[in-house]
Amino acid sequence: MQQAWRAALLRFDAHGQAVHDSDGLLVTQRDAAGVRRVVAAGSHATLAPQFAQVPVTHLPGRLIAPGFVDMHVHYPQLDVIGSPADGLLPWLEHYTFPHEARFADPAHAAEVAAFFCGELARHGVTTALTFCTSHPASVDALFTEAQTRGLRLIAGKCLQDRHSPDGVRDETGQSLIDTEALIKKWHGVDRLGYAITPRFAPTSTEAQLRGAGALAAQYPAVWIQSHVAENVDEIAWARALFPDSRSYLAIYADHGLMRRRAVYAHCIHFHDDDRALMRDTHTAAAVCPTSNLFLGSGFFDFAGAERVPFAHGLASDVGGGTSFSPFVTMRAAYFAGRAASTGVEPKPGISLSPERLWWLHTAGAARALDLQGVVGNLQPGCEADFVVLNPGATPLLARRTAQAETLAELLFALIVLGDDRVVERTVISQAK
Ligand code: GUN
Ligand code: ZN
Repeated sequence: MQQAWRAALLRFDAHGQAVHDSDGLLVTQRDAAGVRRVVAAGSHATLAPQFAQVPVTHLPGRLIAPGFVDMHVHYPQLDVIGSPADGLLPWLEHYTFPHEARFADPAHAAEVAAFFCGELARHGVTTALTFCTSHPASVDALFTEAQTRGLRLIAGKCLQDRHSPDGVRDETGQSLIDTEALIKKWHGVDRLGYAITPRFAPTSTEAQLRGAGALAAQYPAVWIQSHVAENVDEIAWARALFPDSRSYLAIYADHGLMRRRAVYAHCIHFHDDDRALMRDTHTAAAVCPTSNLFLGSGFFDFAGAERVPFAHGLASDVGGGTSFSPFVTMRAAYFAGRAASTGVEPKPGISLSPERLWWLHTAGAARALDLQGVVGNLQPGCEADFVVLNPGATPLLARRTAQAETLAELLFALIVLGDDRVVERTVISQAK
């Protein structure tokens, strides 16, 4: 059965340009698999005659926009948010690893997975690429919860067979057996996808990285996720452990872990040859600005990612990141773009447009995940994951957005002032 929503509508064309209908109509229909897809999107005046028989939910004063895509988040770090440390490595040692050790208990994993998926929905996030812990049961817990909710979710078991404490360290051979079993169990089931997940080069042996690369070659439709070039101490450590690789990033290439559907978080401290390696291997970056600010890691170079262009999109990186809210992440990305003008090697700061920031967290992020035309947009054929936003959710937002004369002004006000209070409803295309 077809179903329609009438409100202002935001979507993106094939070039990433924002398309706005101030009085729009979104028409959807369930496919054979039970997934609701967009049939038509455009101005109400144009589409209404053609879909006159379709029941319409009218939402005056609201903006319908694609569900947000979070390209990198750690569900087991829900309770790590806001744990301050001098930098990444002490933060991992003092807070993150001890918290992640608790996921050996499936009941704990299930409780956190349910809360986590609830937070994604409350904040308008409808697709996420997610780290689990090294315990296979942590993957089962998250996929089980996501499947119940009909969420499009990609996740994987952390691979970390060295430089990790008891309780989170895995064993090389078993970790690869577990990964393959989880791929077979979950990848492609409903809206779920598997990601081969070496935590980062310093916590994997050469053998584990090589095994992960072999699985990545054997299962090309499966994703790969890891971290790279986040923090200067981390980089020095990785370089010392893998002296034969040209750069930290090149360690992953040398182990068969850079290809389409590979996603690396942070990608801050890059040279142009690293950018070219990202581009040439069709590898994507997950940009995590609140995490980078919180842990003092540095600033992603947005201008560099245009100069030597490689795919990138936005991510919360909870719990190094401080918020599930895509509004907070887009705001931090804007600040990070501005801040690139300072430092030892001064670079001109850039001013990311609000349409661009929004694209980087929806259709652009979907493209970086190789899910273009599937999620992150509201064009015909896309899965109908969307948010209903209330631009007047707070007194100040109501006052400020009422004065917006252009789409850019409206989106900028939402980015600067918005949070979960703006998200009135999150509609998941496969929700039962
Ligand atoms: N590098 C390796 N593990 C992690 C993690 O959990 N968070 C972040 N931000 N960086 C990492
Ligand atoms: Zn991370």
